[in-house]
Amino acid sequence: MTMMTTTMMTTERRGISARTRILGWILLLVAVAVAVIVLATGRALFARIDAAASAELGHEADKFRAFALGTDPATSRPFASVDELLAGYLAHSVPEQAETFFSVVDARAHLRSREDPPARLDRDAAFVAMAARVVAPTAGRIDTTAGPAEYAVIPVAAAGAATPAGRLVVVEFLAPAYDEAWSTIRTMVVISASALAVAAVAGWIVAGRVLAPIRAVRETAARIGETDLGRRIAVSGTDDVAQLAATFNRMLDRLEAAFDGQRRFLDDAGHELRTPITIIRGHLDTMGDDPDERAQTLHLVGDELERMSRLVDDLIMLARSERPGFLLREPTDLADLVVETLAKATALGDRRWSIDAVPIGPDAIALVDGQRLTQALVQLAANAVAHTDPGDAIALGGAVADGRIRLWVNDTGCGIPPDEQQHIFERFHRGPDTGHGHGSGLGLAIVARIAEAHGGTVQVRSAPGEGAAFTIDLPYRAPVRTPAPAPALTRAQEET
Ligand SMILES: Nc1ncnc2c1ncn2[C@@H]1O[C@H](COP(=O)(O)OP(=O)(O)O)[C@@H](O)[C@H]1O
Ligand SMILES: [Mg+2]
Repeated sequence: MTMMTTTMMTTERRGISARTRILGWILLLVAVAVAVIVLATGRALFARIDAAASAELGHEADKFRAFALGTDPATSRPFASVDELLAGYLAHSVPEQAETFFSVVDARAHLRSREDPPARLDRDAAFVAMAARVVAPTAGRIDTTAGPAEYAVIPVAAAGAATPAGRLVVVEFLAPAYDEAWSTIRTMVVISASALAVAAVAGWIVAGRVLAPIRAVRETAARIGETDLGRRIAVSGTDDVAQLAATFNRMLDRLEAAFDGQRRFLDDAGHELRTPITIIRGHLDTMGDDPDERAQTLHLVGDELERMSRLVDDLIMLARSERPGFLLREPTDLADLVVETLAKATALGDRRWSIDAVPIGPDAIALVDGQRLTQALVQLAANAVAHTDPGDAIALGGAVADGRIRLWVNDTGCGIPPDEQQHIFERFHRGPDTGHGHGSGLGLAIVARIAEAHGGTVQVRSAPGEGAAFTIDLPYRAPVRTPAPAPALTRAQEET
């Protein structure tokens, strides 16, 4: 169920690629911005047209007033009547293309211009009736057959009369200017759409280029799951995508090393375990009925099983040493540690055991895993016993100086040839048979792991026939002093 949901979700996610999503959002934002710009521009254009029409009406009214104050061009005397004034003005002035003037006298309209206006408002009875009622200069807007128009009605009264005797009507048709504005807006829309399309194509290509390494990472990761860990992503450039690829490659290096290590470990372990199993099977297959022979076989089988169990213990120990939390550091008295190790080591064989030195003073207390270090020293002591003869001298010691802890086991045995020395710490490496018998070949590997887990090393100084000196060298860490120490985690708890 969980698996299915996960798979479905992955497929769904893959439906819209990052490339599409990034581009989609950018295009959407740009489209919104462009729409806002076009809208605002359109509003400004129309507002300006309306303002220009109003200004033109005012201008025409001023012209008419100036004309009325002058003399009749026909008689060179002041106008005799309102009718004459209006007739004279209409004959005198030429309306522009989107303009018309007419007079309304006695509720009847008179249009005197030679050109036909776009719409004959003078024939609109309702408009003429409305104009005929006007007593003060009026402006307004009206829808005509030729689109919207702004008009002004200017009433004219004879000198001394209370009511106007006639009206001049000035009309400004807006349609031509509006058409022009619309065409501007259409051009803007077409240009914006083309720009958006070009941006979409360019964005698609650029996003593809930028995201290509990510795709390569994804594809490589998918292929690695199916085939091998040997593949790497080609890193080019220094941007964060390149860094992602580099990080991914480093992760693969670590994974590959870990897998290799695991495979070799399993190979080695399997190989090592097969030998005792073969021996045990051989003994049991050939076991006869003779009680003496049986007892002897069982003894041999017991020995092999014992060896196997030690091997398995060592293998578990090595495997555990790879995991975090392998060490349990506690304030440990290093002098006690050396003395206790000696007590355990003396049981390993009849040798001339001694202690060279032990750390004293406050530095003798260090923050280390005492049990693991004891284990390492016992391993070294066991090796020393295995490569010496009864009565030979083996010395243990410890010292703290210059911020380093040194713990050592020196023996006077057969020693190790120089070309051997670099291999003895390898897993399952056993030296040439010196007639002292062999362990699993894991002892020194475990010692090395314990030293490394403490941030230190293990070194050997030896020459054939002159014994061997093994030294564990660790950085010194002082115990942290806390007033009331928290209940310490015990080894048993850690093991479970
Ligand atoms: N004190 C020593 N003197 C001589 N050779 C040693 C000593 N300690 C270790 N070696 C060599 O190093 C090899 C690896 O040791 P170790 O890892 O403990 O494996 P094992 O003891 O199981 O053989 C040994 O087989 C031996 O050849
Ligand atoms: Mg050993």
